[in-house]
Amino acid sequence: MENQIDTQMQRRKGRRLVLFPLPFQGHINPMLLLATILHSKGFSITIIHTNFNSLNPSHYPNFTFHSIPEGLLESEASSSDLVALIKLLNIKCTDPFRDCMDKLLSDASEEPISCLISDSLFYFTQAVAENLKLPRVVLRTGGLSSFVVFAAFPLLRERGYLPIHDSQLEELVAELPPLKVKDLPVISSVDSDSYYEIVAGMVNGSKASSGIIWNSFEELEQSELNTLRQEFPIPIFPIGPFHKYHLTSSSSSLLAQDQSSISWLDKQAPKSVIYASFGSLAALSEAQFLEIAWGLANSNQPFLWVVRPGLVRGSEWLEPLPSGFLETLNGRAHIIKWAPQLEVLAHPAVGAFWTHNGWNSTLESICEGVPMICMPFFADQKVNAKYVSQIWKVGLQLENGLDRLEIERYIKRLMVEKEGEELRDRISKLKEKAKFCLEQGGSSLQNLDSLVSHISKLDS
Ligand code: UDX
Repeated sequence: MENQIDTQMQRRKGRRLVLFPLPFQGHINPMLLLATILHSKGFSITIIHTNFNSLNPSHYPNFTFHSIPEGLLESEASSSDLVALIKLLNIKCTDPFRDCMDKLLSDASEEPISCLISDSLFYFTQAVAENLKLPRVVLRTGGLSSFVVFAAFPLLRERGYLPIHDSQLEELVAELPPLKVKDLPVISSVDSDSYYEIVAGMVNGSKASSGIIWNSFEELEQSELNTLRQEFPIPIFPIGPFHKYHLTSSSSSLLAQDQSSISWLDKQAPKSVIYASFGSLAALSEAQFLEIAWGLANSNQPFLWVVRPGLVRGSEWLEPLPSGFLETLNGRAHIIKWAPQLEVLAHPAVGAFWTHNGWNSTLESICEGVPMICMPFFADQKVNAKYVSQIWKVGLQLENGLDRLEIERYIKRLMVEKEGEELRDRISKLKEKAKFCLEQGGSSLQNLDSLVSHISKLDS
């Protein structure tokens, strides 16, 4: 048996995979974890990355890295218009990416390439791969549930749900219960035509690919998986949660993770701390930031808060806080710029996660059994928050804007009242399911085997 596995591995050693992550934290992390998983299955890994948010090859000595000059201007790279930036990346990366692929494909000293695995939002890579006659497999870094909604955009536009009108926010979307119009994955501050264009690029490019990989697991999103398997004529592989494979993987963090958070957590009582973090892209007004600060302070619970530089529009870091704010809390608060989030969520002192519901954060919280306070900002985060609060029932969604009294009430409901215990029980059960799918015979390991055999057959 062992010999057979060795031979399989040996055979795959002659197969190289080229991976191309979208250069944002919530997309880089799952792509590099996927690379580590596939490397453990015997594939050689080449990573192509942009100069913008460039990766550090020294963290991954087993992989080969190629950086491409996408040529973003400084003003473009620092733009707060995410949709314009993604669209621009799809345009500006085309030539340098094709040149890089050309070189890799013609390099006779390297193993042959089985396929390209690129982020679903790098939709331009579908046409490049087709031209090069190279199969493309897609990594979708969000959940299946939000993707079902993205795939329904043409229908939602036809039926008048999109673009969203303020008067309809509380209306149920009859085709996608229990979503209301306000839960649809839009970004209100951007040009809607450009947004529809990148959503269509993502959905159609994925549909035309040779398969889609998901950082999710069947037991979490079974009915959405069934829907997609009916609507998409290609193989679908939910093989997550990626970060829970028993593999050593390096950090792919773009910002330095402040380890003082762990020594601070070590001093707190079990399940007493609220961990608040809103991911790598969300931004707040100064007024919203202050409501959060006072809500946390007035809750009387200890809190660990990630205030990323740039989180508060127009401020460098903590300047909007009233002077002496932290001192009056007598060590009950710890504010940092970036956390080792996986370690934080796994720490016994953490009792709740106040999150923006980016998909990675949502999944990471589920895997550690930490109930959530949901505060989605845009896009898929809105769908994720609805699933957390209304379908899986493992969190509470802040519904009525940011108000310090409301925040205090929600924290109490989760940390002190019986409702919180019920959420905790439910998320502990989901945590068990997440664990089970990576045990022998578990759904994600089975799907991974199917993925490996699918990829191995792609170029034969
Ligand atoms: C973005 C979108 O917001 C999200 O909706 C989409 O699904 C993926 O891209 P982001 O906002 O960064 O991602 O959120 P999230 O998906 O939660 O990813 C953030 C990652 O950064 C997580 O893996 C998290 O563990 C990590 N992180 C976050 C840290 O390591 N430290 C921190 O302090 C905060």
